[in-house]
Amino acid sequence: MTRRVMRSLLAAALCAAAVPAAASDLRVCIDKTSDSAAMDRLVARSVARVTGMPLAVHEFDGDGGGGDEGFALKNFRVLATRDCDLVLGFPLDASRPEAPVGLSATPAYAHIGFVLAEPVGQTERDLGDFPRGSDVGVTYLTTPNLYFAAHPNVTANVFKTEAETIASLVSHQVKAALLWRPTLVHYELTHPHGEKFAVHELTEPHARFDVVALYAATGDAAARKFTAAVRGLERSGKLAALVAPFALPGPSDAPYVPLVALAAPQQHAALSESGERPVVIAAEGDGGAGLPALYTAAQASAGAQKFLANCSMCHGKDLSGIAGPALKGKNFASAKANFHVSDVFRIVSTNMPATQPGSLSHEDYTQIMAFLLQQNGYPAGNAPLTYDGALKSMVPLLYHGS
Ligand code: HEC
Repeated sequence: MTRRVMRSLLAAALCAAAVPAAASDLRVCIDKTSDSAAMDRLVARSVARVTGMPLAVHEFDGDGGGGDEGFALKNFRVLATRDCDLVLGFPLDASRPEAPVGLSATPAYAHIGFVLAEPVGQTERDLGDFPRGSDVGVTYLTTPNLYFAAHPNVTANVFKTEAETIASLVSHQVKAALLWRPTLVHYELTHPHGEKFAVHELTEPHARFDVVALYAATGDAAARKFTAAVRGLERSGKLAALVAPFALPGPSDAPYVPLVALAAPQQHAALSESGERPVVIAAEGDGGAGLPALYTAAQASAGAQKFLANCSMCHGKDLSGIAGPALKGKNFASAKANFHVSDVFRIVSTNMPATQPGSLSHEDYTQIMAFLLQQNGYPAGNAPLTYDGALKSMVPLLYHGS
């Protein structure tokens, strides 16, 4: 060994020893164009919390600019070596689970896939239940088009895009459609007043996918921590809630698993009826100069009361966190975590209150969101926040208080 090599090895060892062991970032890449990106963000956020690692999210455009080939597999190698340690949200065909060349995959943290979607109330459970020649919508060049449309009971109505296939289902032009579950969920989340559809797992090969995180050799330690944290979330039943509603329903249409059961539901009523003087929570920061005004002052003050009644027992009257995490401040809304108003609103409206997810009215959720924005330093304005608007808002959520 030359002296020079020895010197640099020694230097490397010294450097490694000097780096503090704790608080390295959980560096993840998330495909912002993926219909299940919200699920990946949620899983990343929970893993960051249980490992105590600050979350750093690098978003990428997995549509690859809309080219025909989509996003080349070699780009994942670049992401995993340059931009992050873990590329979340990669679906591996469960009948042939192989990571792209040069990368490894963590165990699955969710199962997603293509499903049979039909209007609620129809009784079919899979393609075999339909009368021969039933009109079923599929999207051109997707797996259902390639593999499932040959089923003798199916007369395939082929549409150019998933959006058109969903439209055919909504207009009842077809009896059922074969769809990528996350795309249907995305549609339902962004059309909260529209028709809901029943979904059933397809038993055909290539219908089920394992959602994994991809990593290069450099991401090995991060992958191990991620996997251990995911296992913990799985054991506590939290993972199921985090990946719902994107995950496959399971053969028995398993019911929605609540996130945690910490406070008895009665506590909500007790708090609001206790006659306690409402705590007046002042607006934060510098009044939010230069930031978008996304809600009205009236919404935020109504939201403050509803927060006290439904959320404060877990998140604290001052939002600093008790059983649930803090809902204001730099750790909640950091630039590195790269969250948007819609991400938080989706958590709030579908997973909260943790004991009774989805139990509040759209108006309640919208007002509570207005209150959270106010507490994180966003200014009030003339235009009210709407439920649909909050679900779609890509305004970055950053803490602007002092
Ligand atoms: C019974 C306790 C409980 C109640 C009530 C509750 N939450 Fe939560 N909340 C939690 C827990 C626990 C988590 C963390 C979940 C996780 O990451 O696994 C959480 C997470 C959240 C998050 C995500 C925070 C983050 O940093 O990712 C938001 C936002 C949130 N809650 C808002 C609300 C709102 C708004 C209400 C009232 C409508 C509410 N919660 C009611 C326990 C609760």
